[in-house]
Amino acid sequence: MADTYVGSIDQGTTGTRFMVFDHSGEVVANAYEKHEQIYPEPGWVEHNPMEIWENTQEVVTRGLEEAGLDAEQLEGIGITNQRETTLVWDRESGKPVHNALVWQDRRTTDRVEELEAADKVEWIREKTGLEADAYFSATKTEWILDNAEPLKLQSSRSQDLRDRARDGELLMGTIDAWLIYNLTGEHITDVTNASRTMLFDIHEMEWDEELLAEFDVPAEMLPEVRPSSDENYYGHTDSDGFLGAEVPVAGALGDQQAALFGQTCFDAGDAKNTYGTGSFYLMNTGNEAVESEHGLLTTVGFQMSGEPVQYALEGSIFITGAAIEWLEDVDLIDNAAQTAELARSVDSTDGVYMVPAFTGLGAPHWDGRARGTIVGMTRGTKKEHIVRATLESIAYQTRDIAEAMEADSGVETTSLRVDGGAVKNNFLCQLQADIIQTEIARPEVDETTALGSAYAAGLAVGYWDTIDELRSNWQVDREFDAEMSQSDADRMYGRWDDAVERSLDWAQE
Ligand code: G3P
Repeated sequence: MADTYVGSIDQGTTGTRFMVFDHSGEVVANAYEKHEQIYPEPGWVEHNPMEIWENTQEVVTRGLEEAGLDAEQLEGIGITNQRETTLVWDRESGKPVHNALVWQDRRTTDRVEELEAADKVEWIREKTGLEADAYFSATKTEWILDNAEPLKLQSSRSQDLRDRARDGELLMGTIDAWLIYNLTGEHITDVTNASRTMLFDIHEMEWDEELLAEFDVPAEMLPEVRPSSDENYYGHTDSDGFLGAEVPVAGALGDQQAALFGQTCFDAGDAKNTYGTGSFYLMNTGNEAVESEHGLLTTVGFQMSGEPVQYALEGSIFITGAAIEWLEDVDLIDNAAQTAELARSVDSTDGVYMVPAFTGLGAPHWDGRARGTIVGMTRGTKKEHIVRATLESIAYQTRDIAEAMEADSGVETTSLRVDGGAVKNNFLCQLQADIIQTEIARPEVDETTALGSAYAAGLAVGYWDTIDELRSNWQVDREFDAEMSQSDADRMYGRWDDAVERSLDWAQE
């Protein structure tokens, strides 16, 4: 009999990846495709859901083909996804009524300010663990239902999107639900993705009627919420579909929770930071939903079939890797790999600080109107200083979170597991260890996001038996210890706060 494996679809902000893993967590197939970033207006970010679904089919097909694998060799498929990104589609035709509103999209900032003015922030936090923000799906869903005007005409019956939703004709979901629907025909999301909608009560573990009323979201359009690793399976792929086989789709996690799982942060106190478009620092807090007093989010970490939910504290930093992409966009660098060399070529930034608040600031500031700032430039400032300041901004933003995390949890992080594209950069890893004065541990398999969702699906279908089996798959690639003195780190970090102050509340519109 041919060897068997577990597949993972990792649908991220910039592209879609398909990976296949073997029993020891080694990668045996890997295919990737970027998709278009649509910016209709400043601060708005959209994706075309059909393009995402087409790319998903393309990477799965290509990944299997290039690795010489048959779909029948997959014992299960897991899904992981950019979180919060929201769409509404027609149940029957499967066509979206509007582009997906991406997590970075700030168009509903006014609505959030209304919630603040009406003193609803605390009420929202108590139920959802979230800071009222345009980042989450609630105001995005409301916006689509209010504004998807031109596309309403596609409907043959009622013209009103909310009426259609109440009649069960329209479905709402995050990207995991969109992919599960297209792969299996079922309308399902997992607990971690539900916890990012700002419509879900993370204590009761159900959609919250009062929040649905606040945002006028009909309950009929919401997906069923299931564990992240589900022995009952979400469904099967269709043997007559693009894959040509019936494979169980049995696990799903938002990408940051998937990375937590892939890094085997299974116990309270375990923490990881993923450096992608943004950075997302999560600490497992066990079965306790720890309330933050320092601007962090309380969120669902994961849930295994038949087991209680494990919660996490999260520091969501909106822009880190995307700041490096920006350096490329404005032609300061040719590629990301160059940043280490350029940054090393100068001893310091010469007093320059860069705050990459391109889409507002997330944790711990939560300011939707903050905008990017470079301060401290002189006539002698060179591009090397700006590049170094950009890398430093990633390390400082992470220290903001590390400090908040320690204050909220009372747990001192002695080693932080890291992953994501930017951790290939040794300079950045060393800088990170220096600025937060903590050991940075980089694992051998750096695609921990895809690995995490493969683990979730693989546990559900019995490919792996227990989570303990997975711990031994985690192997360190390199550890970085702080080389800078605490006082130097504190001095550099001290001015970061001043720079952040200058970026706050900038946008007028
Ligand atoms: O919350 C947003 C996050 O899930 C996006 O992650 O890796 O696609 O930038 P990424």
